[in-house]
Amino acid sequence: MFFASDNTGPAHPKVLDAIVSANAGYAPSYGRDPLTEDAADMVRDVFEAPDASIHFVATGTAANSLILASLATPFDAIHCTACAHITEDECNAPEFFSGGAKLRHVQDEHGLMDPAALASALGSHDPRSIMVPQKGPVSLTQVTETGTLYTLDHLRTLTDIAHSHGVKVHLDGARFANAIAALGCSPAEMTWKAGIDAVSFGGTKNGCLGVEACVIFDPSLSREMELHRKRAGHLFSKHRFLAAQMKGYLSDGLWRDLAQRANAAGQRLAAILRAHPEARLLHEPQANMIFVSLPRRIHKVLIAAGANYDLHGSLKTGSDEDHITARFVCDWSATEAAINEFATLLSSR
Ligand SMILES: Cc1ncc(COP(=O)(O)O)c(C=O)c1O
Repeated sequence: MFFASDNTGPAHPKVLDAIVSANAGYAPSYGRDPLTEDAADMVRDVFEAPDASIHFVATGTAANSLILASLATPFDAIHCTACAHITEDECNAPEFFSGGAKLRHVQDEHGLMDPAALASALGSHDPRSIMVPQKGPVSLTQVTETGTLYTLDHLRTLTDIAHSHGVKVHLDGARFANAIAALGCSPAEMTWKAGIDAVSFGGTKNGCLGVEACVIFDPSLSREMELHRKRAGHLFSKHRFLAAQMKGYLSDGLWRDLAQRANAAGQRLAAILRAHPEARLLHEPQANMIFVSLPRRIHKVLIAAGANYDLHGSLKTGSDEDHITARFVCDWSATEAAINEFATLLSSR
């Protein structure tokens, strides 16, 4: 019953096979090898973006920070929601790698940025002032940090506002595949066709060992991104092993299949939690992540019986009747048996 995160599970065997296949003989280093070219072309194909510049890194924090460093100046404000991974969980890496850009929170509902609030944040900027942070890029997350999804129209509305103010839009796609599987649209529709300028295309949470692709639709930013990646120490010398993961991940639609599995498991778990009379779902779970509150006494039983999830409070202090919020995430490897076991356990409470 492992529902703590979609990075706690195993890598998919086909991704491991791809690494083993890459482990033969010699190859040029630092991304100048044929496998990296192949993998980058595969990403371009998936996004229907033949001119996109593609850069592989090993973590989502690196992907987000280095893209944002390429889109923002040190004087800029980067606009994001208050629950964005870049502001909550990246130890100021975007600020650091951008050389000092500041993250500015824009109001959201259930993790979804409010267009009127974005228009107001960008519109209130005084272009003559050198005293304030300058208008900088917008960063959105899909699937959001609360497990919800932007519709394509919502994305388009936000990107139109950003572009009308002359700033670019980044998409944190740590769970990009889950969003595509849930919305049933194409990667192009959810990105450049909706006005997104750059994407952190996640692999790690969905079956890879550790690889994310930075996808930048404006190739003129490629050189800057390359320099940021190298300076940050994220240009792997044995780069073929990053590329091999991405190649295995994208081959035969594995990435979509795995995301479909994770979402199906997430939806089943959400239904089980929703059906419990004492459970309160905090947001509508639209992919593979669920936020729910339950009385402390129920958490005690679930956790003692081996359920593993992210509890946002203490089991030790407070009344047994107090509700504590928890996050459940299903990855591609979540089994029906584990979910059934959890259902039986919860229904007995
Ligand atoms: C929304 C989001 N973005 C990015 C990341 C990537 O983080 P990491 O640097 O741990 O790979 C995560 C991982 O938890 C995430 O949930």
